[in-house]
Amino acid sequence: MAKKRVLSGVQPTGSLHIGNYLGSIANWVKLQAEYDGFFCVVDLHAVTVPHDPTALAAHTQAVAALYLACGLDPAQSTIFVQSHVSAHSELAWLLNCVTPLTWVERMIQFKEKAIKQGENVGIGLLDYPVLMAADILLYQADVVPVGEDQKQHLELTRDIAIRVNGLYGSEANPIFRVPAPMIRPQGARVMSLTDGRSKMSKSDPADASRINLLDSPEAIAQKIKRCKTDMERTLEFDNPDRPECQNLMGLYELVSGKTRGEILAEAQTWRGWGDFKAVLTEATIAALTPIQARYRELMADPGYLTGVLADGREKAGAIAGQTLHTVRQSLGFWVL
Ligand code: TYM
Repeated sequence: MAKKRVLSGVQPTGSLHIGNYLGSIANWVKLQAEYDGFFCVVDLHAVTVPHDPTALAAHTQAVAALYLACGLDPAQSTIFVQSHVSAHSELAWLLNCVTPLTWVERMIQFKEKAIKQGENVGIGLLDYPVLMAADILLYQADVVPVGEDQKQHLELTRDIAIRVNGLYGSEANPIFRVPAPMIRPQGARVMSLTDGRSKMSKSDPADASRINLLDSPEAIAQKIKRCKTDMERTLEFDNPDRPECQNLMGLYELVSGKTRGEILAEAQTWRGWGDFKAVLTEATIAALTPIQARYRELMADPGYLTGVLADGREKAGAIAGQTLHTVRQSLGFWVL
């Protein structure tokens, strides 16, 4: 039986943080043996907000290297850069023409980002979820592993697929597979270190609010030492009235790989936040050190990475091209 297909991506804007890793990339790595994986660096999304053209290529390369450093295996999965497969832009255009404006105007991320940007909002920012739908639908993905913040975009993708199938396909011959989101409860929403009620984010101007995947051990130790806590001495899981405690305990569970039972037993020996922060720091550094070492090796051998991405472009391009051909035919274009 053919493997089910999985597709996901991360934007090369700013440095990737531990929320991107735990909410998304770590899950891709777990899925890759069982699924036919397509993982792209979504650079076309990175230009929906003002960007630095002198840094875009380097950020794209760094994110691709981090995919591999985190454990994606080019022998099992297709790893590529979104802009290298022009079908993404082309399908996005066609989907634009069938997507009602009111559907995209509802998107929470658009509203939040638009408020931050004031007058400088490009059409691309509004259109961004349609491009994301194109990314997913081009590959006929069955599942899309993402963090909680992408849930609404996945619902929109499903709505667009159903609409196109209804308008131009038939029940026996749907044009697109309707994808399902895969949001693992643990790690799906890693919160800021400086405010347990807001999401850890690449765009937060305060670097102290996040642990970047490439932070030095000293930086990680400093950030955890200074991160926000509360007045209680005991540490517990899942108490929404203690967002910082909930977030950091959740983080510890994921980076240590220990069970909750083991952690609660260990917690008996902690005299308060200080002891907990020390073990959290140690476990976080231990989880990130091998990723950073592999990243440095990959960055020292750019030819290897370019080869992986060139292969990925070819494999992804072939599948995307087939879907685009079907879409063109179904929409009635004169196809030669
Ligand atoms: P992006 O680049 O903002 O984030 C990449 C992935 O990281 C997850 N994530 C988080 N998970 C847990 N806690 C957090 N604090 C946190 N912050 C981010 C995101 O949910 C995401 O899974 N639109 C997407 C990129 C994209 C995409 C796609 C994803 C474009 N096309 C097709 C899947 C399929 C985005 O901006 O993610």
